[in-house]
Amino acid sequence: MSVHKDVKKITTNTLQKMKAAGEKISMITAYDFSFAKIFDAAGIDIILVGDSASNVMAGHETTLPITLDQMIYHAQSVVRGIERCLVVVDLPFGSYQGNSKEALNSAIRIMKETGGHSIKLEGGEEVVESVKRIVGTGVPVMGHLGLTPQSIYKFGTYTVRAKEEAEAEKLKKDALLLQEAGCFALVLEKIPASLAKEVSESLTIPTIGIGAGSSCDGQVLVMHDMLGINTEFKPRFLRQYLNMSEQITTAVQHYISDVKSSDFPNVNEQY
Ligand code: KIV
Repeated sequence: MSVHKDVKKITTNTLQKMKAAGEKISMITAYDFSFAKIFDAAGIDIILVGDSASNVMAGHETTLPITLDQMIYHAQSVVRGIERCLVVVDLPFGSYQGNSKEALNSAIRIMKETGGHSIKLEGGEEVVESVKRIVGTGVPVMGHLGLTPQSIYKFGTYTVRAKEEAEAEKLKKDALLLQEAGCFALVLEKIPASLAKEVSESLTIPTIGIGAGSSCDGQVLVMHDMLGINTEFKPRFLRQYLNMSEQITTAVQHYISDVKSSDFPNVNEQY
């Protein structure tokens, strides 16, 4: 018996049932129509239109520069490619931290203009009021704790978070507050596996881990990292399933050589 195979569309309710049944949740990022179509057809449960688009699509060093309009463009493209999975769209830096009204307006723009099914935002206690307000309008919200990349200049490093007692205690408290505020799931990024286990077991909503060990209710990876498009990023938590960079280089070099030698196009490839 598999909860996710039995449903035509993955919803936040499906994820809740998956957690209850002990069935792991798969999530991957995507930013465009073509990859979203492939991932959805492959059977992925959730596509995250992550603000990591700022890094992997636009080439910025951090996630901070991406705008709400740019996130909307990526999310619209992804939504056109999917039939079955749940689409979560990141609220970018600067589109929700001001106050809960600003957060609500940004969430509403995403829902109205993209057709996405839910939004994600980073932070704990400080975003609880915004979460309540957004959830109150009927928009599902995913939380994000641990290494929250929009706060990179506060952290100063991309190293593992919540190794110290005080930060771990705050994270546990924040997780409960986000659940009480109505979040349907939580991303736990780069925290000790033992802490992620404790948090996952203490919550009724699913946790989705990235660098947070095997006890989370699901896992997420950035598509460019797991497909080997971006080969410079090699953290310990990353499993690389393909080396697309190498495969694409070989294919493009082959194409260049065929063009230069006039092998391409041949008589069957012309009108
Ligand atoms: O933007 C993103 O890709 C993310 C994941 C790393 C969880 O937030």
